[in-house]
Amino acid sequence: MTPERVAVLVSGSGSLLETQLKHKLPVQLVIADRECRGIEIAETHNVPTVIIDRRDYGYGTLEQWNRRQFSYEIASELNQHKIDVAAMAGFMTILDPIIFEQFNGWILNIHPSLLPKFKGEHAVQDALAAGANVTGTTIHVATDMLDDESHIIAQQEIPINAGDDKATLHERIKVVERELYTNTLFDILNGTIDLNIIYPLERS
Ligand code: GRF
Repeated sequence: MTPERVAVLVSGSGSLLETQLKHKLPVQLVIADRECRGIEIAETHNVPTVIIDRRDYGYGTLEQWNRRQFSYEIASELNQHKIDVAAMAGFMTILDPIIFEQFNGWILNIHPSLLPKFKGEHAVQDALAAGANVTGTTIHVATDMLDDESHIIAQQEIPINAGDDKATLHERIKVVERELYTNTLFDILNGTIDLNIIYPLERS
């Protein structure tokens, strides 16, 4: 089956979502884990939005807050809107494995490094600290392993320039990510990229 209905999950400035919507990617739903600019962008483009506030589910380590219930609420919104593919675009909450059981292979993520290098939320800073002269971006199928590189959909290298700091490098990465994620999602919707091949399993 070729997926038809896309949701985008955001937490921050939403500039990747903004490019997707400017290019008229048909986004059926935007979910955020907090009030953020991403929600405003969705509203400007008349895309339905839902905020499932992460702070309503408790605080602390991954084990301490109710990540399961939070993830259950997200899954239930995806179901209600009959979403086929959920694309995380700067979504900053780690989801519980229950959502990957239900949407196995249909949750995507974009990460600002060449996975498996520099996993985690400090990927840009870590690349600089390591003295690397190249980094990049990776679009991959998300699983219950953080920044899992097992099912890579697209990857692009970005050089690190002398004098780059976290802000300049991240912005240069995002310039690439905005086009790459938009094009990749269009390709998934038009069947050019087949997630069944990238992540083969029984799909309902
Ligand atoms: C991107 O760099 C993406 O790789 C990372 O979060 C950033 C999102 O940027 N996961 P924005 O919120 O869309 O501007």
